[in-house]
Amino acid sequence: MNREQISGIAHADHPIKSPLDDDSVRQLLERGVPRGDERVLDLGCGGGEWLLRALNTHPNLLAEGVDTSEHALRQAREAASRLGVHTRLALHHQEAADFRSTYSFDLVLSVGATHAFGGLLPTLAAARKHLAPGGRVLIGEGFWEREPSPEAVEMFGDLTDLATTVDRVVADGWTPVHGHISTRRELDDYEWACWGALASWALDHPADPDSSHVLETAAIRRTEWLRVYRDMWGFVGLVLRRTSD
Ligand SMILES: C[S@@+](CC[C@H](N)C(=O)[O-])C[C@H]1O[C@@H](n2cnc3c(N)ncnc32)[C@H](O)[C@@H]1O
Repeated sequence: MNREQISGIAHADHPIKSPLDDDSVRQLLERGVPRGDERVLDLGCGGGEWLLRALNTHPNLLAEGVDTSEHALRQAREAASRLGVHTRLALHHQEAADFRSTYSFDLVLSVGATHAFGGLLPTLAAARKHLAPGGRVLIGEGFWEREPSPEAVEMFGDLTDLATTVDRVVADGWTPVHGHISTRRELDDYEWACWGALASWALDHPADPDSSHVLETAAIRRTEWLRVYRDMWGFVGLVLRRTSD
């Protein structure tokens, strides 16, 4: 079983691959697409869950998603067909940094995917290139709740505390017009959903040749969460507008 298949099982009960509950996702999207007829781009869209929710809520919205995971894009395509929104969704299997379009977008999303661009500010720079005048960016990024251990930095990279994260965004020419800081409950629910779904799959498929590997992976990842980063990692979603253009 490859990494994508493991990720697919881990997110079966939490299709948004970030620590946000349905209400938080809805509120962030409401601020991101205030009219409902926007053209939306998601860089690192995964299974397309953000786009699917926006399309399902707004019949005049158009969406495009970019991701390197063929597995996740197939899931997005199938879900879009089931919801009857596939004619308004274009999916691109490629590096997000290489994506080019002849038109610009009213909302550019990138949630939990800043590593695809090498960090927060490079992600905002990439989003800006795709942004229509007056457009918005919805970005989701990790931050340190407290001084991280070297192991946590090794796992999550070069993050900063929340205030510094927002200061960096503002200094880069953006104004946050809405934000959501994942609650303790959202953070914990997400981890339990992922590692619980993996463990359940293994216990439900004892005869599968991958069963013991999947159970072991669930245990390792759960332990990493509890011992390495649970007490120091946070997650923020920001809706941004250019301060001046
Ligand atoms: C944590 S998931 C987030 C998915 C989605 N934004 C969400 O919140 O549900 C990160 C996604 O980024 C994608 N990704 C990682 N590197 C990428 C790259 N260089 N270009 C495009 N997508 C990438 C992964 O395949 C994965 O689907």
